[in-house]
Amino acid sequence: MDKPRIIAANWKANLNYSQALELADGYLEKVVFQSRQEIIVFPSALHFHMLYRKFENTPFKLGAQNMHWEKKGAYTGEICADQLTDYAVGYILLAHSERRHYFQETYEVVNKKLRLALDLGLKPVLCVGESLPEKEAGITEMVIVDQLESALLDVNKEAARNIIITYEPIWAIGTGKPVPIKKSEHVIEIIRKSLGNHFNDEELGSLPVLYGGSVDPNQAENYMHCPEIDGVLVGGASLNPEKFAKIAHCATD
Ligand code: PGA
Repeated sequence: MDKPRIIAANWKANLNYSQALELADGYLEKVVFQSRQEIIVFPSALHFHMLYRKFENTPFKLGAQNMHWEKKGAYTGEICADQLTDYAVGYILLAHSERRHYFQETYEVVNKKLRLALDLGLKPVLCVGESLPEKEAGITEMVIVDQLESALLDVNKEAARNIIITYEPIWAIGTGKPVPIKKSEHVIEIIRKSLGNHFNDEELGSLPVLYGGSVDPNQAENYMHCPEIDGVLVGGASLNPEKFAKIAHCATD
């Protein structure tokens, strides 16, 4: 199976212009691109213009951390899909727990954004994951199935093939405590199984599912070499070009 390994960098709301420029230069200098790799950078939208030029004709792809569920319009303060295409933004991060938690993104909003992204040919990177109390209550599976089902409501089956899913347990994000490989593998199996209504077996086999949550160079290799896991979404460690290059380097055969 020649599925690409996906390494995604989520810069969140970090970095001013010169810091983002320096980090992009660090990536270009240090990341040794391998074939069968997809490297996606999710910067602040303020840096798209600069990064579009920096990453032009390189393997680095750009993604947006957010967008409104309408293509454009009177939505003060929002970023709309129409504005993303100018900068060759091909991916959209959706349903990150920080968006769900701090910005009250509901299941309905996630679903609307997902459908718009697919309509416009943007590849959604859809995050799912349980909180610590949910994990402790033993309802991880129920929570994740709910998140998936609500996100995929009325999504065109053909278009759904462009979705990338990321398992991001909230309790592992930014804590320095990644989920043990066996546990994340188990949840990722649940994710695939629960999607049987939306994908046939072949499609499920090729559906990319990533892991995210405190990924650093020390354990990236374990994730990357696990057959159930197709790559990683990296937050904190992506702000350091050496660390990010090491993580990307793990994604080799
Ligand atoms: P982290 O963030 O790697 O800093 O835990 C991951 C994420 O939130 O996407």
